[in-house]
Amino acid sequence: MPENTQIMQNGHKKYTRVWCDGCYDMVHFGHANSLRQAKALGDYLIVGIHTDEEIMRHKGPPVFTAEERYKMVRGIKWVDEVVEGAPYVTSLDTLDKYDCEFCVHGDDITLTADGVDTYHLVKSAGRYREVQRTAGVSTTDLVGRMLLLTKNHFKQGQYEYDVAREHSSSLGQDSFARSPWTGCSQFLPTTQKIIQFSDGKPPKPGDRIVYVAGAFDLFHVGHLDFLEKAKEHGDYVIAGLHTDPVVNRYKGTNYPIMNLHERVLSVLACKYVSEVVIGAPYTVTKDLMDHFKVDVVIHGDTPVMVDEEGTDPYQYPKNVGKFVVVKSGNDMTTERIVERIIRNRQEFQDRNSSKEKKELEVLKSLDAKQNGTAHVHS
Ligand code: CTP
Ligand code: C5P
Repeated sequence: MPENTQIMQNGHKKYTRVWCDGCYDMVHFGHANSLRQAKALGDYLIVGIHTDEEIMRHKGPPVFTAEERYKMVRGIKWVDEVVEGAPYVTSLDTLDKYDCEFCVHGDDITLTADGVDTYHLVKSAGRYREVQRTAGVSTTDLVGRMLLLTKNHFKQGQYEYDVAREHSSSLGQDSFARSPWTGCSQFLPTTQKIIQFSDGKPPKPGDRIVYVAGAFDLFHVGHLDFLEKAKEHGDYVIAGLHTDPVVNRYKGTNYPIMNLHERVLSVLACKYVSEVVIGAPYTVTKDLMDHFKVDVVIHGDTPVMVDEEGTDPYQYPKNVGKFVVVKSGNDMTTERIVERIIRNRQEFQDRNSSKEKKELEVLKSLDAKQNGTAHVHS
């Protein structure tokens, strides 16, 4: 029984339904971590997701379509239900309609196009709870990393430098001001976070074990559809994630966009995955298959690069008749996401800087109200 489930006077336990909402564009482990924390505050988690039109109006163009965003959130293991096309400003009517006691959001500020706090109604009714936002990851930051791919001669951090410079001049400050929310610091992976994300359950006796391997960079709908199909071949799915240098060897340029620690958390949040190998060998060997008691190795129908010796990394499972190719039926790839961003580069750049500018303005006015001095993180 979750900690927050209360026992009523009549001895029945109170079943708490919790509401979250957002854009959930380019869903990452920061979103998943907020949903994990929200679920822990109750028993049943409902997530409302805004339409493309609403996001366009308030924030700028989303990277993923509504259908893709709905699917990604449905794939997160702490989510019980998704409400499509939820309104941008959370109302009491919405909470009542879905019988939710309160709404949960990260401790950042979300504003409408007119600068109104999207949670002002639920906050004043005492039906708002806050969870800790995961520092160091946001859609805005990921888009920034991808845009760097078009500027190969730039060192990492140039985009952040440009944005900060623009903000600092508009705010009339000497040092480069960054928002503490989307002006991201680096994500610091901890064993605690891995424990929170993982099921911590070994396979049950008799479970059929499926092994899949890959980069799983910018975990997307193609990966999700693939893992759903892979899960149909067994009971316990182990995902082997290649290290950053290995991914870079076969993907080139600035790939992977997300480092190994970040990719681990994204894959662990997926409801079809039971266990993750952090830095799996590129070649699937007999040792690896014996160690994890793998019954079947599965790959999607995307191309497979040879290993450093020029041999097929799936040669062993093929030899022993334990290799299967599944069709995810989805042609999304990490590269296609990056292409989408680059195609709409100016729009995304404008969206990123205007979002951070808004956050800094709110902070400035909050600080001015509280102690008469303007203070922002730099
Ligand atoms: N969230 C979080 N940690 C992050 C990013 C998001 O806890 N690093 C939470 C937000 O606080 C919110 C939910 O995820 O409760 C949905 O966020 P969303 O509306 O999609 O916005 P962001 O991810 O903040 O996207 P962007 O950077 O584009 O604003
Ligand atoms: O490309 P990456 O290494 O991240 O892929 C991990 C796994 O997901 C591979 O088996 C790949 O074939 C599969 N996949 C898929 N359909 C997609 C994208 C990836 O089946 N659209």
